[in-house]
Amino acid sequence: MLLISIVKSYSGWKGKKAFTAGDRKTWLFTLIPAHITLLLGLYQWLAGRIGILRVELSEGTSFMKDKILRFYWLEHPLLMFIAISLITLGYGMAKKPVSDEVKFRKAFLFFLFALIIILVAVPWPFREGVGRPWFPGM
Ligand code: HEM
Repeated sequence: MLLISIVKSYSGWKGKKAFTAGDRKTWLFTLIPAHITLLLGLYQWLAGRIGILRVELSEGTSFMKDKILRFYWLEHPLLMFIAISLITLGYGMAKKPVSDEVKFRKAFLFFLFALIIILVAVPWPFREGVGRPWFPGM
């Protein structure tokens, strides 16, 4: 949905199109999964396998020194939170009293930056230490 929103907002901006209810719906269906992912992520962050309420650190150790915990407790959640906030701002452009060109342009930039941040923060299988398999459990 994020990719579709990026393509549609770019073509709306460059093609000087009128903003329609269909555009707003596309953005909304990008926002909803992003917020669901936020809730799922928050649950994992707190109570998941390596959630902060589950893992007991031994005295005097910092999670910052552990590559996996630093990634899943701080780097990944922080970047994803920023990405989800950008998606929310992108959707918010639908309601802003600005010209359609500005709506499309700003939403395009918000969605594009969100995608870049998500791509950076995903624990891709090829990432050393923190990577997760393409097909977990297989
Ligand atoms: C666009 C949003 C997000 C995407 C695309 C995303 C993606 C992912 C992916 C692909 C994994 C690895 C799953 C696996 O194969 O094991 C993961 C794990 C995890 N994510 Fe996210 N995430 C997002 C947002 C968040 C947020 C907002 C938080 C925290 C507030 C979070 C916390 C975690 C934690 C703690 C894990 C490790 C779970 C475990 O193995 O127990 N994520 N995420």
